[in-house]
Amino acid sequence: MSLTRKKDVSAMIAASQRNSGLARNLGAMDLTFLGIGAIIGTGIFVLTGTGALTAGPGLIVSFILSAIACGLAALAYAEFASTIPVSGSVYTYTYATMGEIFAWIIGWNLILEYGLASSAVAAGWSGYFQSLLGGFGIHLPTALSAAPGAVEGAKTFFNLPAFLILLAITGLLSMGIKETKRVNNIMVIIKLAVVVLFIVVGVGYVEPTNWAPFTPFGWGGVFSGAAIVFFAYIGFDAVTSAAEEVREPQKNLPRGIIGSLAVCTVLYVIVAAIMTGIVPYQKFAGVDHPVSLAIQMAGQNWVAGFIDLGAILGITTVILVMTYGMVRLAFAISRDGMFPKVFSEVHPKYKTPFKATWMIGLGSATVAGLVPLDVIANLVNMGTLAAFVLISVAVLILRKTQPDLPRAFKCPGMPYVPIAAIASCLFLMFNLKLETWIAFFIWLAIGLVLYFAFARKNSNLEPGNMPAAELAASDDK
Ligand code: ALA
Repeated sequence: MSLTRKKDVSAMIAASQRNSGLARNLGAMDLTFLGIGAIIGTGIFVLTGTGALTAGPGLIVSFILSAIACGLAALAYAEFASTIPVSGSVYTYTYATMGEIFAWIIGWNLILEYGLASSAVAAGWSGYFQSLLGGFGIHLPTALSAAPGAVEGAKTFFNLPAFLILLAITGLLSMGIKETKRVNNIMVIIKLAVVVLFIVVGVGYVEPTNWAPFTPFGWGGVFSGAAIVFFAYIGFDAVTSAAEEVREPQKNLPRGIIGSLAVCTVLYVIVAAIMTGIVPYQKFAGVDHPVSLAIQMAGQNWVAGFIDLGAILGITTVILVMTYGMVRLAFAISRDGMFPKVFSEVHPKYKTPFKATWMIGLGSATVAGLVPLDVIANLVNMGTLAAFVLISVAVLILRKTQPDLPRAFKCPGMPYVPIAAIASCLFLMFNLKLETWIAFFIWLAIGLVLYFAFARKNSNLEPGNMPAAELAASDDK
């Protein structure tokens, strides 16, 4: 079946060990930072409020449920990342195990994850940024403050700050991973410091009576809350997209994925407990800065100011890693012939996919300027959960088809862990709204049209497009 034609795993591994043109600068600590940079952002700083309104104090359990689903999927991710350390994340793994059509579908879902998430998160950044400016008495013209239709009763046309922050980050990324890494590491430290500050200051103001009733909307509310705050965990998989720029990827990739997820889970659960402990959950209605609001209500205004600033920096790193992941994904798909070649050209001086970075950055910036973030956040969750389901299926398949492949990291509890990952991700998907499902199927339909109209014919695996001998070598370019 040509729809399920596969890339050769051994050839891919061999190719990844040759010089791919990208510089190998990243270690385990850098990857953990890259992961935390992608994970802690709009989810904890903004969506926790929505989650609390849906789940009540039971939000604490929502965060744990989402973390379990992510953790199970992360174990499957880590096995793949340590076995096939090449650019392109789950897209590449699926290409080797389930075949081209599945790889295309998963790549298309990841575009939803990385591309739309960076736009949505930039829109969230814009809200915090404008609130900080407002503190200094500076206000943007309403027309340029948000996407059309984002604010009820206001005539808004374009989210200028969201557009500009994405352009700034695109410039940074296009100049190379070294510069990017340094900036990212500083911002992650500030972000972690701010979260710890919230915990240390906030814990003294917790009123346990605010935790009762614990599940005002029943377990259904807790499950829906889990599907919403799932967004807060998205990003640890972006670590795998840096595979070709990692030293000793077999060891360092699993460490980076699991380490960053573990740190974030602990922080989220504590933050959720303290937030709902300081403030009755009903107070979060219509609030887009719930974390700093909680600390304000405790009378600590100066701490709230720091939290606002930290949130702005924290969300910046999320945009950075999401855009980075998107560029590297497009690089991998293009290298396989299924996206135009311009996406896999490496800049001779900066050693980055310079043109691809700018094309994707401009695209995401435009979406961020024109589309309200709440419209797309759940769609991002849906695309990501679908990707997690497929990676877990793929790890099961690869164990059967290639049992002897060297694996630096093995997913424990086979086959139960991947099966539990599939079940828990599907469970969260079914807790998302009907309109999200409809939008998701429309996105998939567009992807399939593109596959049959362009990608299939131009794939390196299409007979006649590339002689077999050159196929493995093409992974170097
Ligand atoms: N996890 C990322 C965030 O919360 C997407 O912003």
